[in-house]
Amino acid sequence: MNSTPLLSMKGISKSFPGVKALQDAEFSLLAGEVNFLLGENGAGKSTLMKILSGVYSKDSGEIRINGELVEINNPRKAAAHGIVIIHQEMNLVPELTVMENIYLGREPINFFGFIDMETMKSRTAKLLQQLGSDIGSTDIVSNLSIGEQQMVEIAKALSYETKILIMDEPTAALTERETENLFQIVRQLAASGVGIIYISHRMEELFALSNRVTVMRDGAYVGAVETKATTFDDLIKMMVGRDITTRFPKQAAQIGPEILRVELLSRYDQLEDISFSVRAGEIVGIAGLMGAGRTELGRAIFGADPMDKGNIFIDGQKCSINSPADGIRAGIGFITEDRKHQGLVLEMSVGENMSLASLAYFCVNGFINANKESEMIKENIGRLKIRTPGAVQLVKNLSGGNQQKVVIGKWLATYPKVLIMDEPTRGVDVGAKAEIYNIMNMLTAAGVGIVMISSELPEVLGMSDRILVMHRGRIAGEMAVQEATQEKIMAYAAGG
Ligand SMILES: Nc1ncnc2c1ncn2[C@@H]1O[C@H](COP(=O)(O)OP(=O)(O)OP(=O)(O)O)[C@@H](O)[C@H]1O
Ligand SMILES: [Mg+2]
Repeated sequence: MNSTPLLSMKGISKSFPGVKALQDAEFSLLAGEVNFLLGENGAGKSTLMKILSGVYSKDSGEIRINGELVEINNPRKAAAHGIVIIHQEMNLVPELTVMENIYLGREPINFFGFIDMETMKSRTAKLLQQLGSDIGSTDIVSNLSIGEQQMVEIAKALSYETKILIMDEPTAALTERETENLFQIVRQLAASGVGIIYISHRMEELFALSNRVTVMRDGAYVGAVETKATTFDDLIKMMVGRDITTRFPKQAAQIGPEILRVELLSRYDQLEDISFSVRAGEIVGIAGLMGAGRTELGRAIFGADPMDKGNIFIDGQKCSINSPADGIRAGIGFITEDRKHQGLVLEMSVGENMSLASLAYFCVNGFINANKESEMIKENIGRLKIRTPGAVQLVKNLSGGNQQKVVIGKWLATYPKVLIMDEPTRGVDVGAKAEIYNIMNMLTAAGVGIVMISSELPEVLGMSDRILVMHRGRIAGEMAVQEATQEKIMAYAAGG
């Protein structure tokens, strides 16, 4: 006899204006398992989980917990059933401290009826310690990096009595060590009987962590399989409905003259005497651990942060870059890692976001050439396969991965000479990753030089021509891709 699942969702449908997000979707979860929810960008994963956690209401379908029919129409109801979600986009209040965020609205109260700061502080410290994080309980959230903020989200989730824990891309911004700690905790929770739903586009995590995989496509259920009994290729086929032949379709371009040169760039506390160059058609991968200064380097070159010392040459010409506008004018594009806050205007449409950085190209005598602009937008939506009912859809209504593609489209439209890409495929599904790599090939074939900052070593090894490894604000090592290995990169990254 089959035991009743902890959770079963059946026949779930949900529409938004112009979008059928879920169509007869289903999902089941056993106590003590890690069930990996897999699907392309826009497949409906986050929507299904938002229904389970009471953020959205379903149009139809049923949810059962331990066989009992339940109605979950708000987050409070979900919490009462022990359902806790770590959202893909973070939900913290930036002005508050870490502990205030974790216990917001349910602060421990002392004997006198006041908020018990000491208890709140020690409980927070304990949670953070459990996660192996050195964030302080009283740190203000806006001062934390995105990785640290993600840690706070996770600590917050762990502070509840949880029966079902939903993690929607929890590791997208975590360091290697933080990820390991998180996995440890996920395993412990599962062993203690918590059912865990885990969403990620990192296939490595699927095999490291899950017992079972549930695949969705176009808002519908495709199937669920035991992780042990499946392979990467099988899963991809279930997910996208076809084979993906190469994960890293690198095409070596004709390497031309030097296009970017950075000379002795320094920025207090963050960057020290950084020198390197990028040639036309070349992809220079920048590896390193989180906090090594990779994003800071990208920002300083682009003009988003001032540098204290150093020079930047584009096409051999010394450029004075003091703002992003200077950077863009010099021919530099920058795809930021923190796309939600720095790359997109969520309240604007897909089309408006895409032309933000390139308006100059579409302006003739002060007028915008609307035809040219909409042509570019249509082309980008098509080649990046952005899932949207149209260019007028607000960006905030797109799925996480599709928002990322909009940022990429925005910078492609500027025809940069040098494109700095900070974690270009984070949160993007396997098929779209390959698509982005193909676009990088196209750009390098056209003579663009690319600086690719990435924490994913397979990607660094798969797409770079040359690799720089940063450690504590300096370049600790450099190698041609032919002589690079994961071990070698890690050794430099650790300061060896
Ligand atoms: N609030 C909303 N308004 C309109 N459309 C929405 C809204 N939320 C989601 N959608 C649409 O529903 C579909 C499913 O989105 P969802 O966020 O569930 O995808 P996902 O599988 O989580 O993708 P990703 O891997 O990119 O995070 C997408 O087409 C998305 O644009
Ligand atoms: Mg999502």
